Amino acid sequence: MKERVVSGIRSTGNLHIGNYFGALKNFIQMQSEYDCFFFIADYHSLTTHPTAANYHSNVRQVLVEYLACGLDPEKSTLYIQSDLPETAELYLFLNMNAYVGELERVTSFKEKIRKQPDNINAGLLTYPTLMAADILIHRATKVPVGKDQEQHLEMARTFGNRFNRLYNTELFPEPYAFNYGTNLTKVPGLDGAGKMGKSEGENNAIFLIDTPEAIRKKVMRAVTDGGPEKINQEKPEVIQNLFNLLKIVSTAETISFFDDQYNSMKIRYGDLKKQLAEDMIRFITPFREKITEMSNDKNLLKKVAKQGAEKAGDSARKTMSLVREAIGIKEM
Ligand code: TRP
Repeated sequence: MKERVVSGIRSTGNLHIGNYFGALKNFIQMQSEYDCFFFIADYHSLTTHPTAANYHSNVRQVLVEYLACGLDPEKSTLYIQSDLPETAELYLFLNMNAYVGELERVTSFKEKIRKQPDNINAGLLTYPTLMAADILIHRATKVPVGKDQEQHLEMARTFGNRFNRLYNTELFPEPYAFNYGTNLTKVPGLDGAGKMGKSEGENNAIFLIDTPEAIRKKVMRAVTDGGPEKINQEKPEVIQNLFNLLKIVSTAETISFFDDQYNSMKIRYGDLKKQLAEDMIRFITPFREKITEMSNDKNLLKKVAKQGAEKAGDSARKTMSLVREAIGIKEM
């Protein structure tokens, strides 16, 4: 039996190359080795983005982008979280044994209350319980996610173990974060600090659907400094970030060319950015074309979602009948 894998991405906008290298590349590689469940976390999007007008198009966009990147509905189970209401039922049961104190201590919650002090909803507080439900519903053991999700996984283990102890079962195995260490690339944003993310503003991220013009504009605007002041000096973060982006999309010759230019203080950031933009365009274009092509294939999307909901539903119903039995819920 193949090991179970679960992971998801929130449907809060278009995918960027940070998502691609941080998550999707791992998903794609795992498809042939494991029994994979990849989903679109649309329930989770409601903790921060409760807008009905673009709810569906956001979900649809992530589905299209999953497929365009190479997730294969024949190899993996691809589904939409809200197509599996069993997840919400498990979330309810797990919440009965999740303590407010432990939820309040979660780093992502503390960050969110700083970012949206006017909307500290219970969904934000119980975000880790919902995420645990996503994973435990398929009794998965491997979860391909970035470092920032480590604490959520620890909570998923806590909630699963607590349920097992409370109801004297071995229903839930322990899920652990997983990545193929070799290709875990941290993608920096264009604004000079930190990782690429959409919450840092549109111009900080390069999206898989970006046009050549959009890419050129964003890359040319990327933050730099006044230039090196000494031969062979260490690069400050903003400059290292640009080099890290080059490493993702450019050839070894290009990288060492600009490295030498920097070290000999001859570098012109404009030239580096021009090159970076062109190489980025070459990398992104096939994705954008695939996304455009698939966006128009309504039948395909419908079929994939339906097939995924059925496969994921089978797995979820199996788990939930055991959960209900463990809790003591019985037919009259
Ligand atoms: N919290 C994850 C993120 O922000 C998304 C997510 C929701 C998830 N449920 C999950 C990831 C279950 C893995 C497994 O990236």
